[in-house]
Amino acid sequence: MRGQRLDDLPDWSYLLQTCYQLYRFQPSGGSEPIRTHQRFVREALNRLIHANPPLQEVSLADKPVTAHLRRALDEGKRERHATLIRAIEAIHTRLHWQYGYEKVPRGLEKKFAYAQFCGPQGPIPAKEVILGIVLFAPGCVYPAHAHDGITESYLCLSGSVSENHQGVYAVGSMIFNPPAHTHRITVSQHQPALLLYAWLGEEERLERQQMVFIRKRKNQTCPFPIPP
Ligand SMILES: [Fe+2]
Repeated sequence: MRGQRLDDLPDWSYLLQTCYQLYRFQPSGGSEPIRTHQRFVREALNRLIHANPPLQEVSLADKPVTAHLRRALDEGKRERHATLIRAIEAIHTRLHWQYGYEKVPRGLEKKFAYAQFCGPQGPIPAKEVILGIVLFAPGCVYPAHAHDGITESYLCLSGSVSENHQGVYAVGSMIFNPPAHTHRITVSQHQPALLLYAWLGEEERLERQQMVFIRKRKNQTCPFPIPP
């Protein structure tokens, strides 16, 4: 990969193009903020594709949850985003899976991990947008968290999840989290879930993005503070 540009690496190039297409044709449900977010993501991806950057070397890293990746990809292939699933399959051995948190709550280290496709840390270097996948094991409860100054979307590619108990998002659904919006995710007991995520924000925010779980408060019925 050293010194090779995006155009020299068709697997990565197709992956980015497929993500661009998804953000171009994904419905917005009549929501102006979601439509604007989708447009900003695809415009950033379009600029990135045309810039044809040299890819960065990333160290390969695995996490226990990737034992569920095979199943998530197989299930996703039967669904509407099969093209993206196949594009992910083509590069899945070249990913750096990580937690992104200094302290991972006990038990969660086996239940989730994410891997970046493009962003400040590569492998496709990008300053305007971070794009990647997050994988959840069956039954995972991903604790409440928020992203300061970052607008986030999750697109469900395999399995199903719920966010803040406010709906069930199956394959093809998009979840939109504006900056600082606290969100907690639960995953089906029987299937893993694979989500594509996109982050937009100021360059410095994306560069220094930090994820911190929100601590449980004493005497609180609901284990995580969820905004109304
Ligand atoms: Fe999030």
